[in-house]
Amino acid sequence: MTLDLQTNDLSQVIEADRAHVWHHLSQHKAYESIDPRVFVEGKGMRLWDATGKEFLDGVSGGVWTVNVGYGRESIANAVRDQLIKLNYYAGAAGTVPGALFAQRLIEKMPGLSRVYYSNSGSEANEKAYKMVRQISHHKYGGKKWKILYRDRDYHGTTLGTLATSGQDQRAMQYGPYPDGFVRVPHCLEYHKQWDVENYGERAADAIEEVILREGPDTVGAIVLEPVTAGGGVITPPEGYWQRVQEICRRYDILLHIDEVVCGLGRTGTWFGYQQYGIEPDFVTMAKGVASGYAAISCTVTTERVFDMFKDSPDDTLSYFRDISTFGGCTAGPVAALENMRIIEDEGLLENTIAMGNRLMDNLTTLMDKHAVIGDVRGKGLFCGAELVQDRATKEPMDEKRVQAVVADCLAQGVIIGATNRSIPGFNNTLCLSPALIAGPDDIDALTTAIDNALSKVFA
Ligand SMILES: Cc1ncc(COP(=O)(O)O)c(C=O)c1O
Repeated sequence: MTLDLQTNDLSQVIEADRAHVWHHLSQHKAYESIDPRVFVEGKGMRLWDATGKEFLDGVSGGVWTVNVGYGRESIANAVRDQLIKLNYYAGAAGTVPGALFAQRLIEKMPGLSRVYYSNSGSEANEKAYKMVRQISHHKYGGKKWKILYRDRDYHGTTLGTLATSGQDQRAMQYGPYPDGFVRVPHCLEYHKQWDVENYGERAADAIEEVILREGPDTVGAIVLEPVTAGGGVITPPEGYWQRVQEICRRYDILLHIDEVVCGLGRTGTWFGYQQYGIEPDFVTMAKGVASGYAAISCTVTTERVFDMFKDSPDDTLSYFRDISTFGGCTAGPVAALENMRIIEDEGLLENTIAMGNRLMDNLTTLMDKHAVIGDVRGKGLFCGAELVQDRATKEPMDEKRVQAVVADCLAQGVIIGATNRSIPGFNNTLCLSPALIAGPDDIDALTTAIDNALSKVFA
């Protein structure tokens, strides 16, 4: 049978999906009575499903990925040309797009110099964890092996990265987990853990308390999201990052910034950490690197870290003995090169700042009308609105009603997100992360849909 990808008979596709596809993060019982949604086409910020319904996508492919929008022929052409020339060679050797993208990327990341390729955010983070563990063996005689992670942050779906999940609902029922991963408190000021003036510094000091409790000579690294994504769109309070950096320096702890969501422009700078003057030792990235046109992730580090893996050439175990088969696919870096060109040539960082301000303004205006919005937070085109039962007590809105808002927007043809299976009792933040190409009308359409949905669900 010839496969007809352009088939007009989509009922057959829906049946095939229902019969055989196990969807991510989905309870499938519902699909016994309703059709699974199958998307067929995308252009810019618009998507069409198998029933022909059109949607405005406010979450860049569901999970903050399609930063430059759908239907980019120039990326497809670049990938096609490269695949015909050379689709793959294992990462022990170089390829033309692999070398050129690494060079272009490093130009955007002063202080960092080495790029290790793999395929997903989880994998990129695991690579950094493995590097920390190997440094522990190689340089510290087995000390400094612990990796700190923060409550409410997420770093991936593998067992290693789930061991660093600050989102309990993601990790529940998949344990036991490996040792050596230690949690530090979150920094969300809206749900205060300390009654102080300089909240940012206090939240950072909580990290120091954990380091002192564990023993500084046991702690090798800390992994943090620059702006926490699925844990509630948490922008760090004033003074937080500077203090975190000081603490890392004081105790010789490597600072690993997980840019899987914020990387490649989401917050209006190339990377989220660049908003806060952070000097990281590791930066990991995935989703927006090639906007979902090909699978690619990167673990980027400094020459100082890199040198630790080549300073003992006679020791057969001392180099980074890791491989990612598909890290050698050329589609990823060639798509990433074109993705980066688009962001530059179309001024998408500037657009992200302008449209991000509009989005925050619109959401803030909605607060005047809807008491159910307790807080709005965000940076660039990455915003959240936390829904509460009562502004005074900040008691979280019931997750079913939050999902009802998302469902109502969907019925209006607008896709928004909400924190989901993340923090027990706190899956109450609406999430918006439109493509960086969003215009004023798109932003207004997103917030109008939320306005309508809130009016209906909380009438
Ligand atoms: C901050 C962060 N890190 C890592 C990951 C894992 O990335 P992936 O799903 O590509 O493995 C995610 C996924 O949502 C994420 O949000």
